[in-house]
Amino acid sequence: MSEGILLAKVARGTLLPEPERVARLREALPQIEAALAGETDDVAIQATLACLLWETLPQANWCGFYRVVGERLLAVGPYQGGMGCLRIPFERGVCGACARTGLTQLVPDVHAFPGHIACDDATRSELVIPVHSGTRLVAVLDLDCPHREGFSATEARILEALMERSFKAPAGR
Ligand code: SME
Repeated sequence: MSEGILLAKVARGTLLPEPERVARLREALPQIEAALAGETDDVAIQATLACLLWETLPQANWCGFYRVVGERLLAVGPYQGGMGCLRIPFERGVCGACARTGLTQLVPDVHAFPGHIACDDATRSELVIPVHSGTRLVAVLDLDCPHREGFSATEARILEALMERSFKAPAGR
């Protein structure tokens, strides 16, 4: 049976100081990569990442994936947290901005982001990272936090690298 990951227990909703958050993420990384070793199924990978990143990021109130399912359209994928919006067009919200540009969106205060979609009124900051399979955008990783500045640029860079390593294009895709 899988044990998940071994990290100090921190209550959900706690915003640790940034250096502690980065240290916790770095401690979790090898465990997350070991859990995913050899897995090639996108849903299995997304579900496992949603579960393990939820454990790693106690500041998050939502942690999961939106998948590209059509022409400029995202649909919710595996996640942890309260119920998320089911579909998000590329034209809307922070997730849409990430899908549209292919670039990470680090939003320290969602109230200052025009068009932010408030699935949960408690959310104050957000980090959305593109997920590519080869050169194709297949999904975005969405992380929400009820605190302002819940995610840092360093956390964003670490998670970008994790996404790149976790989803590899099958040959010829
Ligand atoms: N806040 C996001 C929508 C997704 S949920 O919050 C789970 C956005 O603006 O794209």
